[in-house]
Amino acid sequence: MKSTEFYFLVLLLTASVTIVSTLMCYDCPLHHYDFLITPDNIPNFMNCTTIDTKQNFCSLNFYSDDNGKTSKLRANPNKGDEHASVSYISAGFDVPRGFDNTISFGLLYQCMTDNCNNPQMILKRILEASTIETYKPPQLSSATDLSSRAEPLTCFTYNNFTNSDECKPLFHNRQSSNAAEVCSTYCVTEIHIDSIDLKTERMCSYCEQDTKERFSYIDERVYLLDQRISRLQQLEYICNTSRDCNSLENIRQIQQRYRIEFDFDKFFKNSGTSMLILSVRMQYIGYFLFIIVIWLNNKY
Ligand SMILES: *[C@@H]1O[C@H](CO)[C@@H](O)[C@H](O)[C@H]1NC(C)=O
Ligand SMILES: *[C@@H]1O[C@H](CO)[C@@H](O)[C@H](O)[C@H]1NC(C)=O
Ligand SMILES: *[C@@H]1O[C@H](CO)[C@@H](O)[C@H](O)[C@H]1NC(C)=O
Repeated sequence: MKSTEFYFLVLLLTASVTIVSTLMCYDCPLHHYDFLITPDNIPNFMNCTTIDTKQNFCSLNFYSDDNGKTSKLRANPNKGDEHASVSYISAGFDVPRGFDNTISFGLLYQCMTDNCNNPQMILKRILEASTIETYKPPQLSSATDLSSRAEPLTCFTYNNFTNSDECKPLFHNRQSSNAAEVCSTYCVTEIHIDSIDLKTERMCSYCEQDTKERFSYIDERVYLLDQRISRLQQLEYICNTSRDCNSLENIRQIQQRYRIEFDFDKFFKNSGTSMLILSVRMQYIGYFLFIIVIWLNNKY
């Protein structure tokens, strides 16, 4: 091969890779609906455009931040989780700290084929496959409860976070996990998935001194669509209702009181995914043939 031909080939390859690596996504501005969207009342989406993007994912985000009285929806291209290179759904809910009763819950769909986040096509399927039943766990005792409480608050204390996860307060600064230490604020437990193996759960439990604004309870799951695997994304619990209220056993009991589920079979039923994959493959083959034809043309 002459060097000019070689460069031409490289140029073509680069060009075709660029074409393949851009993604078409729906872009629908955040819209507020004054009702809860369910599989039976999917609205008509307004003002959506499709755009060409270099981002990894097309995303569709559905959530309610008022116990399901109203809902919000947004579709856009998105960078996604830094560790993820596969399509996934994340689902969960959070309970803000304090005495009001607003619970937020939501679903995030992150997919990787052209226009896969078209709400009119996909939202019903996502909602049909998902179950989120929320629960507000006991979090902070009121002042009257406190005065009537016989024993002072102590927290379950534990840490197997890696250094980069930063379990606070730093345990080497304290007389390490002295379980009998009285806590004058509240107990915290955080559970995260290990950021390297994305499997192992790591946990950090302590008496929180910092009174900065944060959630009282969060549970978020991830569902990997191709492999049909689910895993925890994060769990967080802050409480000062009883001794060791942040223990793992107590959290496991709280988890019995609500449901976060995703049914892969329902999601893939009648989905037409195989057609989509086929058309993407055909596109690749098309580019490949195109390159060969050009190259042969040049050579002879
Ligand atoms: C769509 O866009 C128009 C013009 O920007 C705006 O007036 C209208 O409220 C939008 N509709 C929705 C449902 O967002
Ligand atoms: C529990 O938390 C509430 C709200 O932050 C606070 O007012 C109260 O003093 C705490 N009680 C204990 C025993 O730490
Ligand atoms: C960290 O601790 C939790 C709770 O005991 C346990 O389930 C998990 O397997 C531990 N992780 C590692 C990496 O040891």
